[in-house]
Amino acid sequence: RMILSIESSCDDSSIAITEIKTNKLIYHKKISQELQHSIYGGVVPELAARLHIEALPKILEECKEYFPFLKAIAVTNAPGLSVTLTEGVTMAKALSISLNLPLIAVNHLKGHIYSLFIEKDEILPMTVLLVSGGHTQIIEANSLYDMKVIASTMDDSFGESFDKVSKMMHLGYPGGPVVQEYALKGDMNRFDLPVPLSQSPKIEFSYSGLKNAVRMQIEKLENSEDGIMQQDKYDLCASFQKTAVLHIMQKLKKLFKQKAPKNFAIVGGASANIHLRAQLEELCKKSNTNLYLSELKYCSDNAAMIGRVAVEQYKQNDFIRIQDIDVQSRIKELVWA
Ligand code: KG4
Ligand code: ZN
Repeated sequence: RMILSIESSCDDSSIAITEIKTNKLIYHKKISQELQHSIYGGVVPELAARLHIEALPKILEECKEYFPFLKAIAVTNAPGLSVTLTEGVTMAKALSISLNLPLIAVNHLKGHIYSLFIEKDEILPMTVLLVSGGHTQIIEANSLYDMKVIASTMDDSFGESFDKVSKMMHLGYPGGPVVQEYALKGDMNRFDLPVPLSQSPKIEFSYSGLKNAVRMQIEKLENSEDGIMQQDKYDLCASFQKTAVLHIMQKLKKLFKQKAPKNFAIVGGASANIHLRAQLEELCKKSNTNLYLSELKYCSDNAAMIGRVAVEQYKQNDFIRIQDIDVQSRIKELVWA
């Protein structure tokens, strides 16, 4: 007995088949569109939707042998780009009707949290830092139906700031991996960039000021006699990454000071950042907190994490009628039931 899950919230087309009883991942495939969006320095929604239309049926073709074992169809319906979410949801509806199977609507952010539990048992409650291209949040995850956002970004997200810094230096999309790579060759103390909200007692995030400080530094270098050199880019990436991570760490230290969590995790595409992982490992060690990380291959968007959530929803009979499923670009609620 298996569930087929579909993910298309941004620029990854992915389908997974998960066995309900064992959480075993029977099939998983993802086709990324990074290359096609790279020249634009970011995801172009209409292009992404068109690429999903090509990729999703291609992947589905490989799953046909599992159709007789399916018990439900799951799909990400929020949050994400509406035009790309719609492609996945449309496919899910068609499968649900043609195979006469119930439909499960999955919150993509819960998916990132459950990326920790792919082929594993659930470990909750847990405090989770979600860092992706669209989100920078701290979530108190008590159970699948009791999750509370306790901190968010006021503007850009952590991953997005890497994408924008990369774009400013023409390093391509996504920015995270390339900026991290450049940072390895740079001097993180060369540029003194402002740590966002360092004086504020509140636990919240902001990345637009830091991004603008990087922009101004680039302009200064470009207008200098020699122009911007390769080493300048390395140093700027290193200084930026150090500051971006320091901002998160300052806020997390505040949170841990109030009450150190027993279990803590980082999830989302940007949780692959090695500098962030290293700093968090240190903080958790000091605080006697268990740190959980998703496997690198499950950090970015994928259908395996959606399937893992769907298994839990299936067990709770949490289905949605075809006429009731809608796509939402944002989840405004701070409490996810
Ligand atoms: O979770 P994800 O695949 O998609 C969203 O749901 O947004 O996250 C993608 C984001 C991009 O902004 C990308 O630049 C960022 O994660 N990212 C990183 C790293 N790897 C990916 N950011 C910082 N450091 C990285 N190593
Ligand atoms: Zn995501």
